[in-house]
Amino acid sequence: FPGNIKILPVAGRIGAEVSGVSLQADLDAHTLGVIREALLKHKVLFFREQHQLDDAGQEAFARLLGEPVAHPTVPIKSGTAYVLELDSAHGGRADSWHTDVTFVDAYPQASVLRAVVVPASGGDTVWANTAAAYEYLPAELRNLVDQLWALHSNDYDYAAQRSQVSAEKERHHREVFASTVYETEHPIVRVHPETGERSLLLGHFVKKIIGLSSADSVQLLSLLQNHITKLENTVRWRWSAGDVVIWDNRATQHYAINDYGDQHRIVRRVTVDGDIPVSIDG
Ligand code: SIN
Repeated sequence: FPGNIKILPVAGRIGAEVSGVSLQADLDAHTLGVIREALLKHKVLFFREQHQLDDAGQEAFARLLGEPVAHPTVPIKSGTAYVLELDSAHGGRADSWHTDVTFVDAYPQASVLRAVVVPASGGDTVWANTAAAYEYLPAELRNLVDQLWALHSNDYDYAAQRSQVSAEKERHHREVFASTVYETEHPIVRVHPETGERSLLLGHFVKKIIGLSSADSVQLLSLLQNHITKLENTVRWRWSAGDVVIWDNRATQHYAINDYGDQHRIVRRVTVDGDIPVSIDG
């Protein structure tokens, strides 16, 4: 493969498909460098037909991007050290806009997601470019959010987001996903440690904007989140089994579309360690 790598942008502002690469732990330095650079530029990279990767191979490849980290609350898949399995049959449907694990201080810098079982139709994932979202905000709004911080927590009100959720389901969700409560504050505008780009750091785990009333916070969050997820900032991927997607978790949010009913969907994720977000004031 070396030398044959091709990178084709998918959407206008985010996402590129990479071909001519077989992802593995002993990837040559040149190819790895090209992938890293493309990840910073396009934010999300799509690789098809990566059937050579099993769980251990996915972990070993992810290690090339950073130190893998296990999810702080969700049990890892047995037989692996770091793999988070999202199985639709067991409630693994990440159908809210989020950046992975932002409820800890130094949340992951990147995620590597592998499709194992995909529905015949539906179950696509959408990513949004949070740097583009910042860039295209009107200057007046940029000035406002530059100085704001938000409280992130995994102890969110699950029921408030999904009106039909039963008390039993909510209890189960809390047990699995929020058995330990994590809370941290992050700047709403984070400066990317490698590109220097500013991006909007929000999503599902945000509880409120510091210093605002709950009512004002809800409204401002909704305004900003609507800007982030404008279709112009997004790319949508139709999965096939064996696809691997890598995203820069410092400059994106994503949403797994829950439109496939009882069909089965299994994806496995390995995240790698990040650093504490830095605000525009350093
Ligand atoms: C995730 O939120 O990390 C998983 C996304 C997906 O299931 O497509």
